[in-house]
Amino acid sequence: MSSSTPELVSAVSKAGALGSFGFAYTQPEAMQREAEAVRALTHAPFNVNLFVSNQPDAVAPSAQRGALDAVAGYYRELGLPPPEPVRQPYAPDLDAQLRAVEEIRPAVFTFHLGALAQAGVRRLQAQRVQVGGSANCIAEARNLEALGVDFIVAQGAEAGGHRGSYLRDPYDSMIGTLALVRMIVHAVKTPVVAAGGIMDGAGVAAVLALGAQAAWLGTAFVPCPESGAPPVHKDGILSSTDDGTLVTEKFSGKPARAIANRFVREMHERSAPHLAFPAQNVLTGKLRAAAAKAGNPDFVAMYAGQAAPLSRALPAAELVAALEAETLEALDRLAALRR
Ligand SMILES: Cc1cc2nc3c(=O)[nH]c(=O)nc-3n(C[C@H](O)[C@H](O)[C@H](O)COP(=O)(O)O)c2cc1C
Repeated sequence: MSSSTPELVSAVSKAGALGSFGFAYTQPEAMQREAEAVRALTHAPFNVNLFVSNQPDAVAPSAQRGALDAVAGYYRELGLPPPEPVRQPYAPDLDAQLRAVEEIRPAVFTFHLGALAQAGVRRLQAQRVQVGGSANCIAEARNLEALGVDFIVAQGAEAGGHRGSYLRDPYDSMIGTLALVRMIVHAVKTPVVAAGGIMDGAGVAAVLALGAQAAWLGTAFVPCPESGAPPVHKDGILSSTDDGTLVTEKFSGKPARAIANRFVREMHERSAPHLAFPAQNVLTGKLRAAAAKAGNPDFVAMYAGQAAPLSRALPAAELVAALEAETLEALDRLAALRR
């Protein structure tokens, strides 16, 4: 299950922040259902987020052998039948998902891992949906500005989850949040939202000082009781260490920051082959699900940012209230330096 349940999204939005649905792997009908569930709980605005990268061409079963063999031992270890070649579609149909967004008409729509076509941006904006996209480097921010988005999410290298890179190799754009946000603020006129490593109000105040208009937090909300992340993922974040994450493509086929568990470490040590995104996500799906169900953290994709050790297991509304109070405190502390 996705971390972003209707309960989490509505609790965050009700508390005055902007709750966000990560609908990358969600079918259009479920998107509609979950959006309706939020609207039954609150009239507050919320964000819908999609991955907009291209689907890879079908990978022939014979070309999947290496990637299948690389995970077969883990399937066996969990008592699962051997993994089978994966077939298209590897993910929900993006056009159908975008049609669902137009029907849902959220206050905000954001996209990740690519650039939405300009016509798509304009169509949503004509429906008074604010549109934002993720950038990992200045070139991507400029490209998003040329598309006419309402805001740019500057996602630093610290960030948990998938790198939003789409013009460059994600490993070539591992720019920290502090540097990236400041450079993008200088490079574009479009409002910037900062993401990556922000876990408390001091982090929020820091990115506001850099010129961001808002802060975007992911990892901080994963341990909330309303989040749909499996308990092992929540525990993994709450007990993580400062150097406990790394960027890996072994879960989905695209680089994403996750807690370095046994699966990630061994797959990297062996330089194990993997399929293209999102075929690899399908290939590891049953393994991840079985491990989550068994409470075994070894094979769960525990996406998390570098600042995960700063996380706290608070209900979402309390976390939003704490973030607000801490931000004001941090701003007061800074203002006191002038006296
Ligand atoms: C569990 C998890 C799932 C995520 N899923 C998405 C997603 O579906 N779409 C997206 O744009 N970003 C996703 N992200 C990345 C966040 O949008 C954001 O860039 C990141 O969490 C910010 O860094 P932080 O984790 O240090 O707060 C995810 C992050 C995490 C931790």
